[in-house]
Amino acid sequence: MVIQNTPNSCTLNTAIVLTVILSSQIIVFTQNAPLFACNTNQDPSLNHYSFCNSSLDVKTRVDDLINRLTLEEKIGYLVNDASSIPRLGIPGYNWWSEALHSVSNVGPGTSFSHLVPGATSFPQVILTAASFNKSLFNAIGKVVSTEARAMYNVGLAGLTYWSPNERDDGDEDRLKVAAACKHYTAYDVDDWEGVDRYHFNARVTKQDMEDTYQPPFKSCVLDGNVASVMCSYNEVNGKPTCGDPDLLKQVVRGEWKLNGYISSDCDSLDTMFNSQHWATTPEQVAADALNAGLNLNCGNWLKINTMGAVQRGLVEESVVDKAVSNNFATLMRLGFFDGDPSKQMYGNLGPKDVCTLAHQELAREAARQGIVLLKNALHSLPLSLTAINSLAVIGPNANATTTMIGNYAGIPCKYTTPLQGLSASVETVYLAGCGDTKCVRAQLNEAREVAAEADAVVLVMGTDQSIEAESLDRTSISLPGQQNRLISEVASVSKGPVILVIMSGTGMDIQFAKENPKITSILWVGFPGEAGGAALADIIFGQYNPGGRLPMTWYPQFFAEMVNMTNMNMRPNLTTGHPGYTYRFYRGTTVYPFGHGLSYSRFVQWLVRAPKLVQLSTDVQDQVCHYPECETVEVGDGVCRNLGFEVVIGVKNVGEMDGSYSVLLFSYPPPWVHNIPQLQLLDFEKVFLGPQEVRLVRFQVDGCKHLSVVDEDGNRKVALGEHVLQVGDVTHSLYLEA
Ligand SMILES: *[C@@H]1O[C@H](CO)[C@@H](O)[C@H](O)[C@H]1NC(C)=O
Ligand SMILES: *[C@@H]1O[C@H](CO)[C@@H](O)[C@H](O)[C@H]1NC(C)=O
Ligand SMILES: *[C@@H]1O[C@H](CO)[C@@H](O)[C@H](O)[C@H]1NC(C)=O
Ligand SMILES: *[C@@H]1O[C@H](CO)[C@@H](O)[C@H](O)[C@H]1NC(C)=O
Ligand SMILES: *[C@@H]1O[C@H](CO)[C@@H](O)[C@H](O)[C@H]1NC(C)=O
Repeated sequence: MVIQNTPNSCTLNTAIVLTVILSSQIIVFTQNAPLFACNTNQDPSLNHYSFCNSSLDVKTRVDDLINRLTLEEKIGYLVNDASSIPRLGIPGYNWWSEALHSVSNVGPGTSFSHLVPGATSFPQVILTAASFNKSLFNAIGKVVSTEARAMYNVGLAGLTYWSPNERDDGDEDRLKVAAACKHYTAYDVDDWEGVDRYHFNARVTKQDMEDTYQPPFKSCVLDGNVASVMCSYNEVNGKPTCGDPDLLKQVVRGEWKLNGYISSDCDSLDTMFNSQHWATTPEQVAADALNAGLNLNCGNWLKINTMGAVQRGLVEESVVDKAVSNNFATLMRLGFFDGDPSKQMYGNLGPKDVCTLAHQELAREAARQGIVLLKNALHSLPLSLTAINSLAVIGPNANATTTMIGNYAGIPCKYTTPLQGLSASVETVYLAGCGDTKCVRAQLNEAREVAAEADAVVLVMGTDQSIEAESLDRTSISLPGQQNRLISEVASVSKGPVILVIMSGTGMDIQFAKENPKITSILWVGFPGEAGGAALADIIFGQYNPGGRLPMTWYPQFFAEMVNMTNMNMRPNLTTGHPGYTYRFYRGTTVYPFGHGLSYSRFVQWLVRAPKLVQLSTDVQDQVCHYPECETVEVGDGVCRNLGFEVVIGVKNVGEMDGSYSVLLFSYPPPWVHNIPQLQLLDFEKVFLGPQEVRLVRFQVDGCKHLSVVDEDGNRKVALGEHVLQVGDVTHSLYLEA
């Protein structure tokens, strides 16, 4: 037996005893072999079972299997640590593996060993998002899923990952690994001013739900074709998400048609009972979750309480059948019931495919592409290696290792710290400057001395997991402790460029540094993954031209002081003084706005082609109400027909260095209807351009998808009237008419 104490992922609310089912006579697990069912080599009698017959379709196989199982056996496959069914050659299986930005050992389904001592650790996803490069997202997903499958093949990892990663396109019935989107939904508070996620009731309007909180999940299921959705701990409008039939059965399963399983967080059902007091008996909680559409429970609540719930008539056995069918169907799509994995599609993957040079190079490339150049006065970056003979590298993150990989990490192939990256090209002097990122007392004298001697200074500041991690919410968005003071003092004595590097998960109020002329450059590096230091050095010395752009707003400190973070309203409210959230609604001052990011080159953009007028197709024109009597038209089949058009943008690199530029296409919808967003990102595309090179970027705009808004009742509508498209300095008015 293994006692699983509150780990940092999918935190188990109470300590849960996970029972490891040991090998029976029929199934023998060897340490380096993957777990799988239908091992017909070992037991030829399994050949007779249709569920083992890979020529049959998944539904037929699942139905066959369910028909053979007792209720107890089915219940055993409703929990993450699923029980073996020895009489049918089905081993136990742990559903909980993680691979947020690398194969991770946070979940019990995955571990590292002498066979695979580490996996390629990419930047935390927020930095990857800053690359605004869809091909990069895919490339990372391919690598992570390859390494995951390779580790499965040697018995070190599962096939089901509670993180986004990627499956190869193609056959609906074949998954490489199964990814999940979490945590569904409106899960914005971890632990803020005494309100934790187990007790947080997110009060969300229908409008915010439809136009902000649900779209990422909807897209994940419909566009991403993900294999799982995980419900969150919090309540939404008074109902725990894992027990809400509207959210699960009706929306995820019904409207979005998830092809896969719905899982709880670890252990949401315990939270429902003990923290949220949702029902008076544990069996009722189990029944409510199953009836709501939950299929799999991280934890053991369903294992313990489902039998009682069925016996008391709280839930039908047919509901258990449906739930566990989704779980088995997912495993079938993964090849788990197809016998020896080494004879299957991904059977050739193994330890040789983990941490390959190409994968590690992609980790470095991902960090380079994400890093955002926030300030670069006097073109002080890139540093010239001929002009700079000594570099002071100062700061609590200057020699960071684990801080670079952040939360939900594994063991990386290796680390290149900022100090190591920079030291590869130039003589460095290093000083941490603070004991840790909390920086209670800075070494100001030592730092001044080191800085005054050097030709240039790189300060690597920011946070780490003691400040930003799961189950922690920040209450300050300034740099911790004496970091500001350390930075300012170093800058005051430096004789050359001072480069401030912020290593953090999100924005920081660094207005003081933005305004300080002695601080010549500022870079945000997120938590840049195992190769973060190498990528940083590539940018500082100009081997790579930065092109990342902020994927979030950097607010001033007073924002954190005035906002009650339990307030889920996206829109500003004059009565309460709530300023609203994100570039879509917040109108106050920013330290750096969404989309900000500089380059060593300069790119100009212009509009090549976009319609001035877009009209609903003629056959619906006389069926709908027209502008100005009506400001919107309901989104529907007829309305959406022919509402697509192309926007073509020209981009030119007018600088001297080649580099990539992300074109962000925004729109300002008609401002007067439904208190809608002021600005929306419609799409983005990254292009690489040599000096003086010109490229055209084409966007396919879908009026119903991109130019629609959500009204107060949560209905999506096409807004009639003037939409202003914006790309950089270019704006273009487009009229949408009924
Ligand atoms: C598997 O199913 C196919 C298709 O129905 C059938 O032709 C084949 O005989 C089955 N294989 C076994 C071993 O039963
Ligand atoms: C920097 O960190 C690396 C990796 O932990 C360590 O080996 C090295 O000694 C550190 N360098 C300094 C100067 O502390
Ligand atoms: C935040 O708002 C909630 C709901 O209005 C209120 O109960 C709570 O006291 C507020 N918290 C703080 C710290 O202001
Ligand atoms: C602003 O907040 C007040 C007080 O909570 C509320 O009554 C009102 O409906 C809100 N206004 C908007 C536009 O959401
Ligand atoms: C996007 O990322 C891919 C994968 O790293 C890379 O090959 C490509 O050059 C990048 N695109 C641009 C425009 O930088």
